[in-house]
Amino acid sequence: MRIEKTRYTERFGAVKINEVQKVLELDSGRRSESSRKEEVAVDKIEEEEMRDIEEMMTVVVPIRDEKLKLFEGVLSGIPHNCLPIVISNSQRGKVDRLKMERDTLEQFCHFTQRQAIIAHQKDFELAQALERCGYSEILEEGLVRDGKSEGMVIGILLALLLKKKYVAFIDADNYIPGAVLEHIRNFAAGFATARSPYVMVRNLWHYKPKIEEEGLYFKKWGRISEASNKYINSLISTKSGFDTEVVKTANSGEHAMSLELASIIPYASGFASEVQELMSIFEGFGGVLPQQDPQAVEEGVEIFQIETRNPHLHEEKGKEHRAEMLLPSLSVVYHSPLAEPELKQQICEELRSQKLLGEDEEPQKPKTIPPPQMVALECLGRYLWEYLSGHLTLK
Ligand code: GDP
Ligand code: CO
Repeated sequence: MRIEKTRYTERFGAVKINEVQKVLELDSGRRSESSRKEEVAVDKIEEEEMRDIEEMMTVVVPIRDEKLKLFEGVLSGIPHNCLPIVISNSQRGKVDRLKMERDTLEQFCHFTQRQAIIAHQKDFELAQALERCGYSEILEEGLVRDGKSEGMVIGILLALLLKKKYVAFIDADNYIPGAVLEHIRNFAAGFATARSPYVMVRNLWHYKPKIEEEGLYFKKWGRISEASNKYINSLISTKSGFDTEVVKTANSGEHAMSLELASIIPYASGFASEVQELMSIFEGFGGVLPQQDPQAVEEGVEIFQIETRNPHLHEEKGKEHRAEMLLPSLSVVYHSPLAEPELKQQICEELRSQKLLGEDEEPQKPKTIPPPQMVALECLGRYLWEYLSGHLTLK
């Protein structure tokens, strides 16, 4: 595939945030020598190199009561060499949705000759193993808490156990399998061009189509991401003294990391994880607060933002859901030790104007999940090995 070279990079201590890169072609054909002239502006990533990266990549699909047709479509878009890890928090009462999801996955694996893992977030064995191995912060009343982030972190732990190199996150409610395929190819392109082992790739959807009275309208920005981007950029600007708009993917659910990076940052509970990941990186490696990991500081942390060619079309979950996302997203920025009083004030005003916060209220501090490296992996392996083999869908 061909992708624009990173042209502009903002630095925040040891963190490099690359400006949005565009995909030039999703498939660049057979291997061939690129001309010098081309190399100045374009990165060409050969198919073989994409495959090598995909082989080391797990794709975590968090799912909670989504339509099975959508889930099945998402699976079909995950490249053959990636390992899907489905973390479900779907209902298991009278209607056992987990069973339906497992059947769908098994059928998919059978006909495509692949392996995949499916586990339920509320499995007792999982909670017990996490507790015994020193990770009870992710638990509530003896089980893993509800929340997409909690599902993501379990996915990261399983990827670590399986000794993979990369972890990607793909929502289960995506209507366009081709977009899923593109998301993962974009991640691979980011990893292929990265120089540091501490890498994050965030996808920016080009357009988010909305059906309006006049027909299909291709909207460029969502309201939530606009607000989150604005305050994160403003935070970076106050530290650097230069205005910036470099962050355009604050709420990007479709993103991926090297496991070196994924295991050393803390996460926020529920729906605030995408923003928290960015803030955790700035806090840990931005050079303002005490540095968390000397090796990562030395190697540097690279953030790529890649604009997709496919539009983003997922289940619309209504206005209330949007509020559920904006409040925790901005609360993360508000409670960051990097946030100055003026920024905190602006965030409160924004939340009040959106009627998400009362006059004298302060945003609640989101719960955090400590870095996955806190878990004693060997211990987890001992407890989970049997559990995992029971959850591996064999070909
Ligand atoms: P949005 O796309 O960011 O508006 O949020 P969604 O509600 O679509 O959630 C994103 C993904 O996370 C979807 O695939 C959901 O099914 C999934 N999800 C939501 N809540 C949970 C949860 O508590 N646990 C897990 N494992 N997945 C969840
Ligand atoms: Co969604």
